Amino acid sequence: MNSKSKIAIFLIGCLLICGGTALFLKPNPWEVWFKNKLNKPAREFVVRYLKEIPKPNAPQNNALDLGAGVGHELLLLLKAGYQVTAIDNQKVAFDLMLKRPEFADYTKNIKTVVSDFEKIDFSVLPTFNVVVASFTLAFCRPDHFNEFWGKIVSKIEKGGYFIGNTFDPGFTTFKESDRENMTFHTKEQTLRLFSDFEIITFNEVKTPDAKSGTSDHYYEVFAKKL
Ligand SMILES: C[S@@+](CC[C@H](N)C(=O)[O-])C[C@H]1O[C@@H](n2cnc3c(N)ncnc32)[C@H](O)[C@@H]1O
Repeated sequence: MNSKSKIAIFLIGCLLICGGTALFLKPNPWEVWFKNKLNKPAREFVVRYLKEIPKPNAPQNNALDLGAGVGHELLLLLKAGYQVTAIDNQKVAFDLMLKRPEFADYTKNIKTVVSDFEKIDFSVLPTFNVVVASFTLAFCRPDHFNEFWGKIVSKIEKGGYFIGNTFDPGFTTFKESDRENMTFHTKEQTLRLFSDFEIITFNEVKTPDAKSGTSDHYYEVFAKKL
């Protein structure tokens, strides 16, 4: 091998090592988001709607928090007396959540499941008196959404509650590459998801951001299963 070939091989090796290191060191965007969220309060609409639900009167009352993140809304469910199953595909979210001192008294009341929404084994889950899906449903892939939603509905007890939101296609804060794997619902499409429910409160939220030119546009739903 001549010296030019040796230099070329050396340079290619350097490039591969640098590229691999950069990939390895790239921060998980969700982890950045979770650390920021730790300093924020629970979602106001979840706080408000949860207060309207009669307190559970039996120890076996179950709640599900889909896309629980670092647990702000989950803590509300625990304080209200539910046994909570928390599902999220980011293990780091649960690691951060379980380090929070507020959770120390409740660890026996939480079951964490690390799973993509698309891969949840619903057959092993109990039925739920309350399902919270706050800023999460849209992160299910479009080709899987209907099956996912059908399974959620089937797991809510008759007379049980859903608190959550869907994202309108006009929720433009997301990059095109992210949007491809997300599911958006218009107002009509959102209402149709709740054909098996009495909708107690439906609230459209639209907050344009003049600086970025994007808009947060979503539908908060508080509903009771018929
Ligand atoms: C915008 S955060 C919402 C967190 C919290 N529920 C709230 O209201 O602040 C979305 C959450 O969904 C989780 N998530 C996103 N895509 C997911 C997927 N495909 N499967 C499971 N969890 C997912 C994220 O890790 C994150 O915790």
